[in-house]
Amino acid sequence: MLTRRPSDILPSEITPKSVFLNRREFMAGAAGSLLLAGEAAAALKGNPSPLSTKDSPNSLKEITTYNNYYEFGTDKSDPAENAGALKTRPWTIVVEGEAGKARTYSIDDLLKVAALEERIYRLRCVEGWSMVIPWVGIPLASLLKQVEPTSKAKFVSFETLKDPKQMPGQQSRVLEWPYREGLRIDEAMHPLTILAVGLYGEVLPNQNGAPVRLVVPWKYGFKSIKSIVKIRLQETQPATSWNLSAPNEYGFYSNVNPSVDHPRWSQAKERRIGDILKRPTLPFNGYGEQVAGLYKGMDLRKFF
Ligand code: MTE
Repeated sequence: MLTRRPSDILPSEITPKSVFLNRREFMAGAAGSLLLAGEAAAALKGNPSPLSTKDSPNSLKEITTYNNYYEFGTDKSDPAENAGALKTRPWTIVVEGEAGKARTYSIDDLLKVAALEERIYRLRCVEGWSMVIPWVGIPLASLLKQVEPTSKAKFVSFETLKDPKQMPGQQSRVLEWPYREGLRIDEAMHPLTILAVGLYGEVLPNQNGAPVRLVVPWKYGFKSIKSIVKIRLQETQPATSWNLSAPNEYGFYSNVNPSVDHPRWSQAKERRIGDILKRPTLPFNGYGEQVAGLYKGMDLRKFF
């Protein structure tokens, strides 16, 4: 058997030239690749934000094993078990509608829009539990400003990927797919509203909405739509998945409000995951000082 010494073998003989030439580019772009998870983690370290809560964060285990992500099943443990196979690279986010410079972003483009920040936020789920999550992300306003909203851009709508092959929950009719959410433009532009791409300094786990999800901390958790592929600036109030499925239970605004009960249960208290006792729920999830002004003069029982 003929063998050659390693020094006789050219790299171009082992790896096709195109792959060989692209490897560096691939390595640089593979922020979400499992192989490079260590490097990606470093790359996603966000600067600490003064907008973070002082509450102590839940553990990574709690945050990644107790999830709502109906595209992967309706039990809290389903997303951790089933979302792993979702392909999150390559991934594009279309930003369209009432915008002077509508465009399509790759995840790598998105990471260049603004400096990453660590935002430790409370998340209050409409079901009555809450968590504290150290997100890594960018203000949504930075992205929206880049596409130059027109004067007709009064609302923003968001859509999750629709792909029943990858998202088996979409083969059931629990919700209308794709999952949709919406905000008023001033809510979308508010400095507390972020697009998260990571948590605990690492690439976002799939069950938490990789590669990019919305986080609106003063609203019930269902507004924080996961795995976004489309953002649309528009003149009219968008339809939202939960409002379509049960309009008397879930309104468009969905601001955390302990004095407006869900028709089937009280919203006055919540259980922080990991705690035994419940704690009182705060108006606007404790962010009232920053956001109450957005709703001045509105009847929040009517616009729930
Ligand atoms: N986004 C999509 N696409 N599908 C969902 O089922 N669930 C929502 C929200 N975003 C959901 C979603 C609900 S009800 C909550 S409470 C939060 O995601 C949970 O986010 P977390 O799992 O990261 O804590």
